Amino acid sequence: MHKVYLPSGELFLCNEDDTLVQGALRQGVGLPYECNSGGCGTCKFILEEGEVEELNPDAAGLSDRDKRKGRKLACQCRPMSDLKIKVSPDPLYTPLHKPAIQQAKLVSIETLTHNIRAFKFKPDTPMDFLPGQYTLLTLPEGDVRAYSMANLADDQSGVEFFIKQVPGGHVTQALFDIRYDTDTEVSLDGPYGIAYCRTSPRDIICVAGGSGLAPMISIARAHVQAGIKRKLYFFFGGQRHEDILKLDQFRRLVGDSTGIIQYTAAVSDETSSGSADNGFVHQVMLERMGQQLSEYDIYCAGPPAMTTALESTLHTIGFPMGQLYYDRFF
Ligand SMILES: Cc1cc2nc3c(=O)[nH]c(=O)nc-3n(C[C@H](O)[C@H](O)[C@H](O)COP(=O)(O)OP(=O)(O)OC[C@H]3O[C@@H](n4cnc5c(N)ncnc54)[C@H](O)[C@@H]3O)c2cc1C
Ligand code: FES
Repeated sequence: MHKVYLPSGELFLCNEDDTLVQGALRQGVGLPYECNSGGCGTCKFILEEGEVEELNPDAAGLSDRDKRKGRKLACQCRPMSDLKIKVSPDPLYTPLHKPAIQQAKLVSIETLTHNIRAFKFKPDTPMDFLPGQYTLLTLPEGDVRAYSMANLADDQSGVEFFIKQVPGGHVTQALFDIRYDTDTEVSLDGPYGIAYCRTSPRDIICVAGGSGLAPMISIARAHVQAGIKRKLYFFFGGQRHEDILKLDQFRRLVGDSTGIIQYTAAVSDETSSGSADNGFVHQVMLERMGQQLSEYDIYCAGPPAMTTALESTLHTIGFPMGQLYYDRFF
């Protein structure tokens, strides 16, 4: 364990195997972060004293300018000595459930679309998490990737992820080649993420693009299970018709037998049909929901291009940005 001193003089203890983000959150210290994967740059800090091991010095979250200014990524640095770092914790990032590592076994694989499968892992002890959060999954060979939970913490059968196959992707290819049998042991480290569903008087809009399906389904499942009176509008987008869920499939997944959630599918590269609108999912959502968007909380997950486009459009039209929640996928 190494001591990590913050500008306020407070400190947290960080294990040598943990990054600074993991170490801080395990102790309830809210260091700013988002993707935990080196892509977004939210976790930048300046190292004032001590030595760190940088897991990926070329991570996309650091620009050349950042490097010249001596900035590093707290989600990619492990302590090699006691440290003094320049970055201030923010209560927004204080975890409601502190992340912890535990072993889990693969218990089932189910096909959802031609390129999305549901993988369920049973951890040694149930994991506490909030709808919309994610976990760092380590496969037997040691590769680590972030995956969002699709189910709810009270599901005794395990933790479920919806994983989209990325052509040429290292981890998804291994998972889709079925190199792993049930009973394969993995490690789960979580929960992480700040885009979890908040209590609010407003109606909810969920926007999911491709790989972002899981956290939005988790929010929808929580909504149905709680019997919440607020309305929930769910938008799911892909490139082609084969990429999206049909209405009955969506309802079965979220347990919405009476149709309390309004589901809209969107396809960007094929013409619309009775079951899907034509266009990028965030554009379809903006067209369908009209001008009164500030009356909603918007949750969104998916490829960075989609989240960035939605964020910038909402910013332009004066949407109250505190009502938009997402963790960027990188
Ligand atoms: C907070 C967070 C939550 C996430 N939740 C989920 C989830 O619930 N389900 C899910 O399927 N994925 C999710 N991801 C993405 C996931 O972590 C991996 O990045 C993804 O599965 C690709 O891993 P890979 O090893 O197959 O690809 P890699 O070998 O790491 O990458 C191969 C190539 O694919 C590109 N690439 C990586 N990810 C994507 C992507 N999503 N879409 C298109 N191209 C990509 C890379 O830039 C690279 O060029 C999440 C990511 C983050 C940061
Ligand atoms: S780059 Fe560290 S949290 Fe995204």
